Amino acid sequence: MKSSFVTAVAAAALAAGMATGSGGIAAAGLPAIAGLPATAGQARTTWDGIYTEEQAARGEPLYQEWCASCHAPDLSGGDLAPGLVGGEFVWNWSGITVGQLFERLRISMPQENPSNVTRAEKADILAFMLYVNEFPAGEHELADRTNMLEQIMFEAVQP
Ligand code: HEC
Repeated sequence: MKSSFVTAVAAAALAAGMATGSGGIAAAGLPAIAGLPATAGQARTTWDGIYTEEQAARGEPLYQEWCASCHAPDLSGGDLAPGLVGGEFVWNWSGITVGQLFERLRISMPQENPSNVTRAEKADILAFMLYVNEFPAGEHELADRTNMLEQIMFEAVQP
């Protein structure tokens, strides 16, 4: 039944939302700078809706299965593993590409055996991480190709 599928997706999105940490910077509500001409070839950033809510909802249970044991269910980090939410995490990655962050978890996470989780699953997990960090969702899924993700800048603050 179509309606029950939609309900399930909405419930999953809601569940993902419940994991949202408090350290989001989007809450600051920075005013958009109006009237600036769009530069040709301007790089896309984490503020341009680079993943979908459905993708983040898929990533949430994958994160809980493969990452939460070290990074905590709410992404706040553990004794050894750093937090993956909030100002410190976001500023740590700001100014580098989403591709580099993707490579980081593609090559080295989960720490015991990175190859247990597929590329596509890692893109879904990264979408979930972006969602929890309050970057806006959009129309198109985050790709699992590093060369495409290299075109997107991770920016702590909306440019
Ligand atoms: C066995 C524990 C463990 C698991 C499971 C694990 N991590 Fe990590 N993670 C760590 C540790 C420890 C570090 C810091 C040291 C290092 O970089 O290896 C880290 C670092 C990271 C970083 C870099 C953070 C930063 O800001 O520098 C990211 C991103 C990350 N992990 C994502 C993930 C994701 C996504 C998963 C699940 C697919 C995952 N980790 C699973 C232990 C773990």
